[in-house]
Amino acid sequence: MSVVGSELHRAVEKLGASDALGPLGEKLAGAIKSIVGPGTAKDSLSGTWLGHQLHPLLTDIPIGSFTSATILDLIGGEQSGHAADVLIAVGILAALPTAASGAADFSDTYGSEQRVGVVHAASNVIGIALYAASLGARARGRRGSGKLLALAGMGVMTVGGYLGGYLSYSRGVGVNNAFFEHGPEDWSAVMSDAELTVGKPARVEVEGASVLLYRTSSRIFAIGARCSHAGGPLDEGQFDDARCTVECPWHQSVFELADGSVVHGPATTPQAPYDVRVIDGRIEVRRTAPVPA
Ligand code: FES
Repeated sequence: MSVVGSELHRAVEKLGASDALGPLGEKLAGAIKSIVGPGTAKDSLSGTWLGHQLHPLLTDIPIGSFTSATILDLIGGEQSGHAADVLIAVGILAALPTAASGAADFSDTYGSEQRVGVVHAASNVIGIALYAASLGARARGRRGSGKLLALAGMGVMTVGGYLGGYLSYSRGVGVNNAFFEHGPEDWSAVMSDAELTVGKPARVEVEGASVLLYRTSSRIFAIGARCSHAGGPLDEGQFDDARCTVECPWHQSVFELADGSVVHGPATTPQAPYDVRVIDGRIEVRRTAPVPA
């Protein structure tokens, strides 16, 4: 990593360790959770319906609109003034659902991610306020001030964007937390059949993957044990034998035991499904092969 990269990384880590931000982050996350609890609204904002986090997708619209407006401000000449104004208005409107989806993701964070998330959100709120002020100035005919306010907004939102990238790529917020667990492609014995009792989940480690085994009165299920949302232990979750589902103990995502698919979020990625068989009193599993397209 370059010196600049290292220093930036260190600065953000310091932010994540800041005691001052902790109580504020917890309060904010609690308040958001009380408004958007597990259910349809949370699934919609998280991107469960999309199979992908919604927030990073939505950020493209305000970032693209604001950046384009700034480029027009700088080199577009007088004739592009109206286009720049429209782009800023589009960016402000698009920022509302973007912020809502980000808030839903933020409410599931803890510790240093939550503290950095507070500054990420604050930077973006300030940036949007500056763009709103820019639009107001433009409407009053003060285009020069409007351009300066937009530039300031871009600067502040660049900080917010950097922190958002750090949260995703350095801290794994919003990524599939079980991606690196591939599991065995060939049948592998994992435990004695006699040890797996009905209604008592087991977690086994096989070829670098954690696998949840669960026996009902009629069959044995096996899916990835590490929750794709944020790594929660599904073997400690709530099992519903009638529906054949498991609910994650951390943020209440629900998965089908039969194939790992998401019943509801905030998870967006299915759990890895495994085939199961019993040979000579030993339970064997293998990663279910993807269905050919
Ligand atoms: S870790 Fe968040 S729902 Fe499982």
